[in-house]
Amino acid sequence: MKRWLRAVGSWFDARLKVREVLLPVLQHPIPRAAAGPKGWFYIFGSASMTLLFLQILTGIGLALVYVPAADQAYQSLQYLNYRQPLGWFLRSVHYWSGSLMVVMVLVHMTQVFLHGAYKYPRELTWVLGVFLLLLTLGLAFSGQVLRWDADAYWGLGVGASMAGRVPVLGPAVVTLLLGGPVIGGDTLSRFFALHVFILPGLLLTVLAAHLWLVLTRGISTPPVPGEKVDPKTYDAAYERELRRGVPFLGEALRKDALFSALVVILVVVLAAVAGPKGPSGLPDPAVQGANPRPDWPFLWTFGLLSLAPPGMETFLMLVFPAFLVLGLLLVPFVSNRGERAPSRRPVAVLTVLVGGVALAVLSYAGATADWSPHMGAWSGAPVPEKVVARSAPRELAGAAVFQNKSCRDCHALEGSGGRRGPDLSGVGARLTRDQLIDQVSNGTPGGGNMPAYGKHVSPAEMDALADFLVALRPAGRPPSRTPTQ
Ligand code: HEC
Repeated sequence: MKRWLRAVGSWFDARLKVREVLLPVLQHPIPRAAAGPKGWFYIFGSASMTLLFLQILTGIGLALVYVPAADQAYQSLQYLNYRQPLGWFLRSVHYWSGSLMVVMVLVHMTQVFLHGAYKYPRELTWVLGVFLLLLTLGLAFSGQVLRWDADAYWGLGVGASMAGRVPVLGPAVVTLLLGGPVIGGDTLSRFFALHVFILPGLLLTVLAAHLWLVLTRGISTPPVPGEKVDPKTYDAAYERELRRGVPFLGEALRKDALFSALVVILVVVLAAVAGPKGPSGLPDPAVQGANPRPDWPFLWTFGLLSLAPPGMETFLMLVFPAFLVLGLLLVPFVSNRGERAPSRRPVAVLTVLVGGVALAVLSYAGATADWSPHMGAWSGAPVPEKVVARSAPRELAGAAVFQNKSCRDCHALEGSGGRRGPDLSGVGARLTRDQLIDQVSNGTPGGGNMPAYGKHVSPAEMDALADFLVALRPAGRPPSRTPTQ
């Protein structure tokens, strides 16, 4: 049997030449100290990668059932949760291993930062690592949107509102992301493509480059106080270190494998005990006081916004994250030489401590704050005075309903207000009273762009609202009498 296997192996290898390429890679020498007890510092990168492969595997499983259509996504998740044998477990593993992947990437980065492993000649490895973090977060966000529940809807609302604040490009970016000016069926298709093709493709590409650098420039030695990095002498010293090195295929690989196995077991246990996340109810934009929360990797932004004065929202949503990312990218360019040991780098240690505490406190605030973002970027503007200057009392009451039910968030009057729905300035000349009431009661059928207000508006309010809408006509135009299609 063994001889037979070896013969088949040789047959393939004579053609593929795998052994020639792969064996040297697996047996490449690593610094002796990195294979000893300090080798336990080096396990987080490979564990992140293991979780990524688990994500790909479970993701393919989910994609077989999930329907990326606005009116079926929610049902397909319910199907996975309750009908499909072990469907809930697949969802659960995907969620928990994704969450753990974010944690693992952060831990990996913290370790690299504290050990000064980003210094010469590994600056580019760090930069690519920052992109890997961003792509991982992008996957977490787009994955949350695919749940297509209330949290997803509002999370996307905040995201779109953030993007909408970008000067000049904002509206174009929002249209690109949402597939139109409003969150609708096209939005889900876009995020599906983003989550299963674009982001994973980018992630694997950047990961390949990251690994290439790890292999060609080698892993850093565990830092020793007093041993400074000097780009002029580093390469020769590292070369000497490797000559006394040990093959990666051995102690180091064993540690990686053991830790990765433990992480996978942790994921399976968490998934079995805690179960899948959501979906948490269908999105309903008409529900006032909805209490949406983003998934935990983004809770800290939510906490930050809830604590900050409203005037700071645009700054915090746009400028602050941009600065954070820029700061991370610049780390190796601020200092790529000198001491690497944490005991000689108090500023680095302090940075990690302050960052960690801030992240924890803000996430806690985000999880508990009774706050939801002020969608100022859409509209909170009052009904223009001109519109109601000569209104009858009941029309005025209707204007108040229009204001209180957040119709203005989506509809403009005389050019001011939200842009998700049409400007309603002349709607009384276009639609009959019955059509108007029908539109408000039933919204866009099939859970589309306009929510149904039937259950959220009393008959008296609806009456007043209809009067107000019918009165929205250019001067001298009669109300519409014939239903239009
Ligand atoms: C979440 C966004 C949103 C909110 C909130 C909203 N609408 Fe709409 N509305 C739309 C969209 C989008 C349309 C376009 C047609 C469609 O998709 O159904 C629309 C269409 C309409 C129309 C038909 C306009 C036309 O020219 O055909 C009327 C009337 C209307 N809305 C009234 C209201 C009123 C009154 C409220 C508040 C009670 C309201 N809408 C709240 C998004 C919204």
